[in-house]
Amino acid sequence: MNLRFVYGCLLLFARITPALAQTPPPPIAIETEHISLVLTVGGNQKLYQTYLGAKLTEADKQLLPKPGPFDAYAPAPNEAYVPAGTDNLFEPAIRVVHADGNPGLALAFADVKTSQTGDNLTTTTVHLRDPVYPVDVLLHFAAYQKEDVIKTWTEIKHREKKPVVLTQYASAMLRLHAPHYWLTQLHGDWASEAKETQSELTSGLKVIDSKLGTRPSWYHTPSFLVALDKPATETSGEVLAGTLAWTGNFRLAFEVDNLNTLRMLPGINPYASEYTLPANQSFVTPEFIFTYSTTGKGQASRNLHRWARRQGGTLDGTQPRLTLLNNWETTYAKFTEPRLDSLIGDAAKLGVDLFLLDDGWFGNKFPRNNDKAGLGDWQPNKTKLPNGIGHLVQTATKADIKFGIWVEPEAVNPKSELYSKHPDWILRLPKRPEDLSRSQLVLDLNNPKVQDFVYNTVDGLLSQNVGYIKWDNCRMITNAYSQYLGKDQSHLYIGYVQGLYKVLGRLRQKYPHLPMMLCAGGGSRADYGALKYFTEFWTSDNTDAFERVFIQWGFLNFFPANTLASHVTNWNPQHTLKFRTDVAMMGKLGYDIDVAKLSADEQQFSQQVVKDYKRLSPVIWQGDLFRLRSPYEGNQVALMYVDEAQRNAVAFGYNLHTRFHEAVIPVKLQGLDPAKRYKVTEINLMPGQKSDLPAHGQTYSGDYLMKVGLLLSDGEAKQLTSHVLELTAE
Ligand code: GLA
Repeated sequence: MNLRFVYGCLLLFARITPALAQTPPPPIAIETEHISLVLTVGGNQKLYQTYLGAKLTEADKQLLPKPGPFDAYAPAPNEAYVPAGTDNLFEPAIRVVHADGNPGLALAFADVKTSQTGDNLTTTTVHLRDPVYPVDVLLHFAAYQKEDVIKTWTEIKHREKKPVVLTQYASAMLRLHAPHYWLTQLHGDWASEAKETQSELTSGLKVIDSKLGTRPSWYHTPSFLVALDKPATETSGEVLAGTLAWTGNFRLAFEVDNLNTLRMLPGINPYASEYTLPANQSFVTPEFIFTYSTTGKGQASRNLHRWARRQGGTLDGTQPRLTLLNNWETTYAKFTEPRLDSLIGDAAKLGVDLFLLDDGWFGNKFPRNNDKAGLGDWQPNKTKLPNGIGHLVQTATKADIKFGIWVEPEAVNPKSELYSKHPDWILRLPKRPEDLSRSQLVLDLNNPKVQDFVYNTVDGLLSQNVGYIKWDNCRMITNAYSQYLGKDQSHLYIGYVQGLYKVLGRLRQKYPHLPMMLCAGGGSRADYGALKYFTEFWTSDNTDAFERVFIQWGFLNFFPANTLASHVTNWNPQHTLKFRTDVAMMGKLGYDIDVAKLSADEQQFSQQVVKDYKRLSPVIWQGDLFRLRSPYEGNQVALMYVDEAQRNAVAFGYNLHTRFHEAVIPVKLQGLDPAKRYKVTEINLMPGQKSDLPAHGQTYSGDYLMKVGLLLSDGEAKQLTSHVLELTAE
């Protein structure tokens, strides 16, 4: 036998003996009412994921195979949070270059702490430690029992003599084991957000990421579904749904290895972001929020929705939202004070809670008359608004509604006073031409002075009794260079998001409940990192009702209806007002339409809709969503919301581009109480219009409605028509 080999074996034995001497602790179970994630410490003291799926009994958890064998050919494949540089063979969760240049990390189990908050939340922290270097990794898990959601994130710290460099830092590493995996992702572009695509994951690595910085989900969103074995349906199949709470560059990596195990690694995108971490400071990753359903995608969405509303995923998730009238598509940036006064009057007449003044109200030296000038100069334009914001707030108050306003405080047009006053506040490369997009550049939120500026801009508006903010951000980061960071640019992207969260955190301290809409040139900021601070988000600039069915459908996979700002507009006037209204009503209803130009019937219809929507909004905003027929599978789309008590429900049916003589088949409802009897009433009818649905005015048992169903379309299934049914238990 080769002597070097024997010597090597002895050394290895000496290294692992102390570890072997310890008895591994019992398996660590992170559980909700229906999910178990089991982590087990191996005989080698490393931590392994031994199970993730439907909840196991205590007895069955004991039967899970122990990690190992630890042979010389390949490391055991399911280490819980794989470090790079030692024995890893696939995509690692973490890579650390130590102060002495050693690029290898090993992680052994140190301890675990569990605590219980109330009867719903269990938090677990698993502490891993490098046996050689003073590096600690804490895996945090917050398990929400009733919502069946687990939130997980990672904390990295060390006590080395000099800083270490982190080049990979996933929020989590989770594994599934099945013959096949079907990934659903949301992707798109401006005005075509949240397109659902499903594909099979095969051997190798698939990465969905963003390098766009400030407008991260422009092309891809940090949310996904993975179905096991076969594509999941709404009501069947095992599915994991996950979403990363980060409003910046993200990376979702999916790797199917040689044993057909799927490793999922969601986290900040390490692209151009090597992170230098000084001793005794923590690097805390964003939260990854996931759920697991054995009854298809529908349950997975409902779990996430309930969690988002009740557990702080979105600000004030259980509180009412404001219906509104926005002026954007009516006036764009061309308006006068009297014109706005009259639009505020129209909002009140319509019956909505709020008038929202959009872009175009600011800038004096460089008036904001289009998107080419003025961004950064947040003083009201004296010609358009001679009496400032205060006057508009007063008009709204007199009309008994609230006043809200649009801002894009993270950006600057070169044609602005801010640009010449603070050139050092702008992200742009030295010695290179500026790279303008929508004629604007991004301010550097790494810089505390810029953070103060953004904070003061919004605070200044709020201190004038503005009751709502639409916070926009219409561009991505290119030409990335922070003058504030100087030589070390690698913290730019992460520091930007941290800076943004600092500002939002400060604002939330002063204005904890002020409703704010998140916008990014449409739906390009759609993540739970930002939604902690916002009540809703603008899903798309595209308000064509046909397109909106798809866009809202896509986002509803992960976000509850009360977060989806959905407005009735004139983007496509070919669609009837009723169709546009019925589509907007599946989300958080608003208007962006010239109310004065509506016919008398249309005005009457809309006033009634607003009243009905207010009555039904507790069901739409707080109820459970059941997607009944997908626009991806046919031309007749249906979905419904049911309140928790199963007393009230609202069902929506949309005929898209239906074919000539397309068969109309009853839709089986879901989520009702089979024993209750429900009165069915068609609402959103134009004045004088009679319902053409046979179910209108009838009463059925929940059992009947779920087994036999009802027609959600007239027999002709006319293109681009729709119906809304209210169900009320007797
Ligand atoms: C972006 C937003 C729109 C509108 C305009 C104003 O495109 O998405 O809703 O606010 O900016 O310029």
